[in-house]
Amino acid sequence: VSFLGVRTSDRLLIKGGRIINDDQSFYADLYLEDGLIKQIGENLIVPGGVKTIEANGRMVIPGGIDVNTYLQKPYQGMTSVDDFYQGTKAALAGGTTMIIDHVLPEPGASLLATFEKWHEAADTKSCCDYSLHVDITSWYDGIREELDMLVQDKGVNSFQVYMAYKDLYQMSDSQLYEAFTFLKGLGAVILVHAENGDLIAQEQKRILEMGITGPEGHALSRPEEVMKRSLFPSLSLFFSPLPFSGPLVFGEPIAASLGTDGTHYWSKNWAKAAAFVTSPPLSPDPTTPDYLNSLLACGDLQVTGSGHCPYSTAQKAVGKDNFTLIPEGVNGIEERMTVVWDKAVATGKMDENQFVAVTSTNAAKIFNLYPRKGRIAVGSDADVVIWDPDKMKTITAKNHRSAVEYNIFEGMECHGSPLVVISQGKIVFEDGNLHINKGMGRFIPRKPFPEYLYQRVKIRNKVGALQGVSRGMYDGPVYDVPATPKYATPAPSAKSSPSKHQPPPIRNLHQSNFSLSGAQIDDNNPRRTGHRIVAPPGGRSNITSLG
Ligand SMILES: *[C@@H]1O[C@H](CO)[C@@H](O)[C@H](O)[C@H]1NC(C)=O
Ligand SMILES: *[C@@H]1O[C@H](CO)[C@@H](O)[C@H](O)[C@H]1NC(C)=O
Ligand SMILES: *[C@@H]1O[C@H](CO)[C@@H](O)[C@H](O)[C@H]1NC(C)=O
Repeated sequence: VSFLGVRTSDRLLIKGGRIINDDQSFYADLYLEDGLIKQIGENLIVPGGVKTIEANGRMVIPGGIDVNTYLQKPYQGMTSVDDFYQGTKAALAGGTTMIIDHVLPEPGASLLATFEKWHEAADTKSCCDYSLHVDITSWYDGIREELDMLVQDKGVNSFQVYMAYKDLYQMSDSQLYEAFTFLKGLGAVILVHAENGDLIAQEQKRILEMGITGPEGHALSRPEEVMKRSLFPSLSLFFSPLPFSGPLVFGEPIAASLGTDGTHYWSKNWAKAAAFVTSPPLSPDPTTPDYLNSLLACGDLQVTGSGHCPYSTAQKAVGKDNFTLIPEGVNGIEERMTVVWDKAVATGKMDENQFVAVTSTNAAKIFNLYPRKGRIAVGSDADVVIWDPDKMKTITAKNHRSAVEYNIFEGMECHGSPLVVISQGKIVFEDGNLHINKGMGRFIPRKPFPEYLYQRVKIRNKVGALQGVSRGMYDGPVYDVPATPKYATPAPSAKSSPSKHQPPPIRNLHQSNFSLSGAQIDDNNPRRTGHRIVAPPGGRSNITSLG
């Protein structure tokens, strides 16, 4: 591939920026060469004639990673309007330099063969680096061999399974169990579309029978009560390599659920209402976005995606008389970073480091791309964004890069935008203009057993396998404990006793009687209690029975 004619300097110096990683911020210059970050610091010694960008104290952040896109999702012979070219152009313009797209096989089709199709399409069209999740849309003979090959030879470490889409993608409980167990053995990350397909099918029928055929039926047939029974309302998915014994769960809200809400399903304008149809549907409660942004800020939710999969109005209109036929998908690949900045950071909920964590670093860690992606560090890929937190931008379909007519964030005035976007060490977006070539994005293979997940899995398994000591029964005298103890038993700390089947204990600092001011609750005690651990690591163990 030749990049002649495109302004692509192979050597770049970014001067005077404030580097923001998920765990620290500091002023430093950055020198990029051969697609990598080569030096970070002050007074760097660099070759003469290097192109220099003056950052003037602005934020320099790792390029965004969108973990949830569908850039060639098939639906009844149609494909959504943004392909890998159109979609990744939009991604770059919004500060996202890597996407993980979903390979979606027709039920019954080979995962491997479908993966190859996606890989080829993305390779020839994608403008930013990409990876691929493979969605398991059916469980068939020979699938284990294919999964094994995808993980060992093809650089895929994440798979999505469906609890929804009855009679289409939905798997039975026993198939899910088989899939989880097998994928865990491969060291994969499991993504779950956690809606209850059986209940949805019943509700859809009921709503249609009531004569409701418009997009509001989509929200009405998937009410929160139904979603709550299925683990996570309002979230598009969660990840878990350890499903049935205390899962490690990561939550991913999509940009749409952070920036707008489901009240639009009731819009009088059918085309507009239909543009919001996605699954799970956006919550009709206008306070939900604020709530989700808070969860993201405090770390209860860890990554953001877009679920980007826009269909044109004409394509959506296939379901004009029957909401169950409206193809599902919203835009968000270009808006995601700005929406998170505006709704979470500009409102004071989230700091700049957490912003980097939820838009880039956590995704890189979970999907085993770290520290190649998701960090400004020597040796990392030169995917770098100069971010202007104060720049105001009004989102509108008039100038977005997507090919779709509607933008679900239409008219939103947002703080925070990328000024310069650098992908593989080349300036691909500057002054509002893209400098890209079709197909310049690379496939980034991912290895199984991401340490971020499996290190914890290993420790949990070890703790789970702990054994008590074999010894004889103690038969000496036992102190007679008074019926009402003076002090409440302190709760065991989360760290010292991970318990397998219970939710982790809640740490509430406001409830502590410990004070830093000198006087303590137990000052009237002659001696402070030294022994605080009341449960052995690993939880309850039946010591007496082992002797
Ligand atoms: C709506 O579409 C579904 C398929 O999703 C079909 O089963 C149902 O019969 C249709 N209902 C009406 C009223 O057209
Ligand atoms: C804190 O002190 C109050 C009153 O002194 C007491 O009621 C409460 O139980 C204490 N809380 C803890 C966690 O010890
Ligand atoms: C200990 O284990 C034995 C056998 O597994 C059981 O009969 C006994 O009730 C247990 N004791 C306690 C205190 O859990």
